[in-house]
Amino acid sequence: MIVLGIETSCDETGVAIVDSNRGLLADALHSQIEMHRAYGGVVPELASRDHVRRIIPLLDQVLVEADCRLRDIDAIAVTAGPGLGGALLVGTSIAHSLGVVLDRPVVDVHHLEGHLLSPMLANPPPDFPFVALLVSGGHTQLMQVQAPGAYSLLGETLDDAAGEAFDKTAHLLGLGYPGGPSVSKLATNGRPGAFRFPRPMLTSGDLNFSFSGLKTAVLTAVRSQHAPNDEVCADLARGFVDAVVDVLAEKSLAALRKTGLRRLVVAGGVGANVQLRERLRRDASTHEHQVFFPAPALCTDNGAMIALAGIAKLKRDSGSRDGRFRVRPRWSLADA
Ligand code: KG4
Ligand code: ZN
Repeated sequence: MIVLGIETSCDETGVAIVDSNRGLLADALHSQIEMHRAYGGVVPELASRDHVRRIIPLLDQVLVEADCRLRDIDAIAVTAGPGLGGALLVGTSIAHSLGVVLDRPVVDVHHLEGHLLSPMLANPPPDFPFVALLVSGGHTQLMQVQAPGAYSLLGETLDDAAGEAFDKTAHLLGLGYPGGPSVSKLATNGRPGAFRFPRPMLTSGDLNFSFSGLKTAVLTAVRSQHAPNDEVCADLARGFVDAVVDVLAEKSLAALRKTGLRRLVVAGGVGANVQLRERLRRDASTHEHQVFFPAPALCTDNGAMIALAGIAKLKRDSGSRDGRFRVRPRWSLADA
């Protein structure tokens, strides 16, 4: 089955074609990061307008790359939420219009289900069941994944998401948006232990997270420095990254212990973080479990993960062909 995947929930326009037998045939992405950088974050109205501009050229591009015609597409998968309402409307209206014109089923996909299943595009993919650490700009969750569609929440952040903490720390250190890659890069020059920040909820006994206090601790440290120089900024970044990585790694280990599972799968934008990857790989060899990461390009938002989640969802949901749709800016994965 050939499935077209469309993602427009935030600041990336992603379109991909996945064959359920042959895997990923084509993947095209346009990131709006440069456009939003001047504003220090995503401007929803600009995001929607840019999705409108990009989506058809990206669709044409994947059809050429996959050597497909529109009528070769068997089904369409689209992110229907959660995300920015106007941005979601662009992808869903295109997907459902194509569904009517081509008379093909359209399945509405939950954005996080896409992230959760994105490691299945790895070669070799992880076997089920596994624990998923989902770390993005909007979410920080530990999930038990028994099979596609069978997810249970083990723990989540009570306030800021890990990616959000990276973005806010970048802002405090005078770095641009998005903060994750720049804070991570700066931290490689920092001295370990020069600043020791709290490890929020490390000993809470549950699998929840909290990152807003950590951001306040960085703010207090920055203020105490009176115009910190480059070396001090690198030490601050290092202290911050070490604290976040410590908490994410320890809670992931606790989730594996609690569920008795031996596979950890990491997904979401923060999953591209080199320090986190290094630590989780080390833990996996010490504790003799397996850890899987999607390729860094598939950690951030993309159409391929939506097509993949769509293939899984079509086994339990026949989709719609009547052009009727709604977006769900707020949508719990438990209801997906
Ligand atoms: O999954 P994603 O692309 O978008 C959603 O939030 O759904 O994640 C974006 C987040 C941003 O907060 C960004 O700063 C963070 O992922 N991120 C990183 C890295 N690359 C992206 N955080 C830490 N290290 C990175 N290398
Ligand atoms: Zn995402």
